[in-house]
Amino acid sequence: MKEESTNIHPIFGDLLQREDKENLLKQHSAVFWMTGLSGSGKSTVAKGVERELHKKGFLTQVLDGDNVRTGINNNLGFSEEDRLENIRRIAEVSKLFVNCGIITINSFVSPTQAIRQQAKDIIEAKNFYEIYINAPFSVCEDRDVKGLYAKARKGEIKNFTGLDAPFEAPESAALEVKTFEESIEESIKNVVDFMLPIISNNRK
Ligand code: ADX
Repeated sequence: MKEESTNIHPIFGDLLQREDKENLLKQHSAVFWMTGLSGSGKSTVAKGVERELHKKGFLTQVLDGDNVRTGINNNLGFSEEDRLENIRRIAEVSKLFVNCGIITINSFVSPTQAIRQQAKDIIEAKNFYEIYINAPFSVCEDRDVKGLYAKARKGEIKNFTGLDAPFEAPESAALEVKTFEESIEESIKNVVDFMLPIISNNRK
């Protein structure tokens, strides 16, 4: 017993800290969590924001429902239970990025308060900014970029958010972006303007 424990050498105290990495990157990391209906513009805004921040010298990572569900979460569907597990894993992954000093931009339907609360608890409130990408169901259905609304209406997709599965709008999002009232460029600018004071390394 004794021999075993003397052979264990914890390195936690020696590991570089998040602050060391933030200083290296000259930025403050956080998770910006975009929630909204399918087709509300989350991914478009996330991609645009990432490009703008990159130009300004920030290191970012976008995590997106459609991408993540083809990889780490390819064994999950759209039942309430699977969505909860989807978001739990994403939140854990986001936490790793934040601890690495990286600004993380997440784009997930994350349809219920409980699901988003779970993410916030894992990521910790001080690192978590909820952004509501708001477009009404009828607008998303009219856009139907991926043809999913038409399929859902025909009954070819079950548990479709906003149709036969719930979407609970955030009650106290840090930022709300109304993509049905403004251009994509305006929405991207609004999010970038919101993020800059939080991620800039001169923030005290
Ligand atoms: S979440 O509810 O678990 O947060 P997530 O953001 O990962 O969902 O994935 C949503 C994406 O999956 C949508 O943008 C859409 O392209 C696709 N999708 C396929 N089936 C559904 C469904 N039943 N409900 C919502 N989105 C669906």
